Amino acid sequence: MDTWKPVAMVSDISADTGTLRVVHEGEGVCLYNLEGDICATQDRCPHGNASLADGYLEDGTIECPLHQGVFDIRTGKPQCPPVKTDLRRYEVRVEAGTVYLKAD
Ligand code: FES
Repeated sequence: MDTWKPVAMVSDISADTGTLRVVHEGEGVCLYNLEGDICATQDRCPHGNASLADGYLEDGTIECPLHQGVFDIRTGKPQCPPVKTDLRRYEVRVEAGTVYLKAD
């Protein structure tokens, strides 16, 4: 049986940035609102000490605020240097405006 944990309301995700940092099972997770499609990845950039929630969201990608590495949010794949490592992605469920992440 899968376990899902509520982490935020969809309305908590900033309309300006499209992102929200939350903590899920002790890990920083970035939530994204991609025009109503809610996605989640690890929040810390694998390249350095930056929060992707502070990055720049555009066309389903997030640009790291520190060295401008870009990731595809839906696949977690790096899109350009200097980032080379996939982002960890989290399964998301939305019910009645609440965002749930799958627990391990
Ligand atoms: Fe994100 Fe360097 S810390 S690209």
